[in-house]
Amino acid sequence: MSRKPALLSDPDDLLTCAETAARKAGAHALHQSRRRNEVIQLSAHDVKLKLDQECQAVAEHIIRARFPQHRILGEESGGKQLDTGIVWVIDPIDGTVNYFHGLPLWCCSVAIRSDGKTVAGAVYAPVLDECYTARIGKPARCNGKRMAVSATRRIEQAIVATGLNKQGQDSSDSMAFFRRLSTKIQRLRIMGSAALDICHVACGKADGYFESGIYLWDIAAGSLIVEQAGGRSEILDRGNGHRISFMATNGHLHDSLKELLVPVPHMPATS
Ligand code: IPD
Ligand code: CA
Repeated sequence: MSRKPALLSDPDDLLTCAETAARKAGAHALHQSRRRNEVIQLSAHDVKLKLDQECQAVAEHIIRARFPQHRILGEESGGKQLDTGIVWVIDPIDGTVNYFHGLPLWCCSVAIRSDGKTVAGAVYAPVLDECYTARIGKPARCNGKRMAVSATRRIEQAIVATGLNKQGQDSSDSMAFFRRLSTKIQRLRIMGSAALDICHVACGKADGYFESGIYLWDIAAGSLIVEQAGGRSEILDRGNGHRISFMATNGHLHDSLKELLVPVPHMPATS
């Protein structure tokens, strides 16, 4: 028996709200960036800022005002990863370490998932002034303009973005993967904002992205944006809690990049 989809709201309304939330939260971080050294918690490879929490509150306020009945899973507010019903998934500042140091590559990501599938999402990078959006059934856009993934078909011409898990667990598997990959492709990049990396695949500036131990809120919006731009996204492995191994490509390179992932870098065990 097929299950009835939970999506009752108009996808265009959902997308408008996601874009407003991402833009407002991102603008808050940008305008308050002189306060970027207000640290809540500093760990060996990560930092939690007062502005992470404030931006989460800004995004949630906008969503709750429009859709008070919907549930929210946020990097800063927590919540269960639910694969039923409607859930908004928010990463208020993706690339917090970049933001903290004054680097420009960070963004706010807001996605709406219905029964575990993203149906609309927005990623806003304030310093770059790039707002990536998509909803099911419509082409992905950047600042309102249609965009498409790259046409790169040869792995040796590919630029691939990746990331290192922030828990600082043994990264020798990831390093082995980096070595393997970097001999086959044109260039490997670690830029520090997963959601933005995926959008750069969507607009053709990168050809692929892979990370092991990434969180749902890092990839929820980007996965749909890359697909609606003609690419492919895939969860390769699920760890504990919200952690996953995830890959997004221009589609042409998907299988060959995946082959290079064998063995898949170790999935960190903690949530
Ligand atoms: C991190 C960034 C980084 C990725 C980490 C993420 P955060 O998100 O996306 O690029 O390598 O795995 O956790 O902590 O800045 O929101
Ligand atoms: Ca993040």
